[in-house]
Amino acid sequence: MTTDASPKRIYLDNAATSFPKPEAVYEAVDRYNRQIGVAVGRSAYRQAVELHRVIDRCRTLAAQLLGAESPERIIFTFNATDGLNMAIHGLLRPGDHVVTSAVEHNSVLRPLRDEEERNGVEVTRVAADRSGCVDPDAVRQAVRPNTRLVALLHASNVTGTIQPVEEVAEIAHAVGAFFLVDAAQTAGHLPIDLQTLPADLLACAGHKGLLGPLGTGLLYVRPGLEDQLRSLRQGGTGSQSEDDRQPAHLPDKYESGNHNAPALCGLEAALSFLMDRTVAAIHEHELRLTRRLLEGLAAIPGVELYGPPAPDRPRVGVVSFTLEGFEPQDLATILDESFGIQARAGLHCAPGAHRAIGTFEQGGTVRFSTSVFTTDADIDAALAAVRSIAGCDERGA
Ligand SMILES: Cc1ncc(COP(=O)(O)O)c(C=O)c1O
Repeated sequence: MTTDASPKRIYLDNAATSFPKPEAVYEAVDRYNRQIGVAVGRSAYRQAVELHRVIDRCRTLAAQLLGAESPERIIFTFNATDGLNMAIHGLLRPGDHVVTSAVEHNSVLRPLRDEEERNGVEVTRVAADRSGCVDPDAVRQAVRPNTRLVALLHASNVTGTIQPVEEVAEIAHAVGAFFLVDAAQTAGHLPIDLQTLPADLLACAGHKGLLGPLGTGLLYVRPGLEDQLRSLRQGGTGSQSEDDRQPAHLPDKYESGNHNAPALCGLEAALSFLMDRTVAAIHEHELRLTRRLLEGLAAIPGVELYGPPAPDRPRVGVVSFTLEGFEPQDLATILDESFGIQARAGLHCAPGAHRAIGTFEQGGTVRFSTSVFTTDADIDAALAAVRSIAGCDERGA
């Protein structure tokens, strides 16, 4: 608990979930809870109509932000993991082959391992280099005529490395495979246009870079793919209620049961905020802060940095580092308790990424991750804290 004696809180764990949210998000959630308070798509009274409009707008904004063909291609999920599971388990059948990378998050690695063990799906995991980057040629060599799915993360949640997704999409499509993108660390941080990034499925969180509340996520489904993608959950949709079969149309096919309405109201406000600010401007802001962070950390004796070697390489605002003489978990605890700097230490649910960069055995890294609300002063405070822990003169080096 924060007390008056505690240092100011500087939150640099936005890759886990973003904080703070835009003010309008808090207001929208509060308004829903106090004044709307009804289910989505089930009734026709005044508040239900108002809510319906907000949820429609949320879907439309999400489609615009990602460059989807139309709003119904966007499925509301409960987080990125939910959408990734819907995509992987909904698409794969016994005997299929999948290509993915070794540096995926567990929300891709574990559903794929489950498909392997339960359904006889074969999975090839291509390696990444020391910067966490996947070589498209490795994917080219791994695909086969029976490859049904290629799944790749857009940016690493350990190193911030942006993967060559456009090239990999081409390779997947050349053998007739579908391409799934895990955009958990890019949506809201890096402009995404599904008309130039030809993903068949793209999953992201609503609560990270999209700045919405926890309990929200999105799954994009390319037109026509709904014929191949089973729904994992069936139930009430508020539509075609006379029929005990799941509706075939989108988004209802994949949205059974009551929505997380308060959080979706918040997400709508967050998406409006993002459209106003523009993701391109947010990316520039975060890139500038990331360079400042990388340059500052590189100058501290005993700090080792991981990920794209040059600060000017394309990346998102996720920075992993270690400090000689400190276990990552201990360093994160000191940063929090003594300096109010909140970072995440460990393997970040991505053991393969830590194997690729050589930090698995030592228990991972400490990760700083930025958002639109991170300031130069936050970065400078984090750098001063690491300098102090490293034993440098706080005004020097
Ligand atoms: C690359 C990546 N994929 C998937 C996820 C899972 O996201 P969620 O917590 O929304 O399920 C994360 C979470 O950190 C992530 O970084």
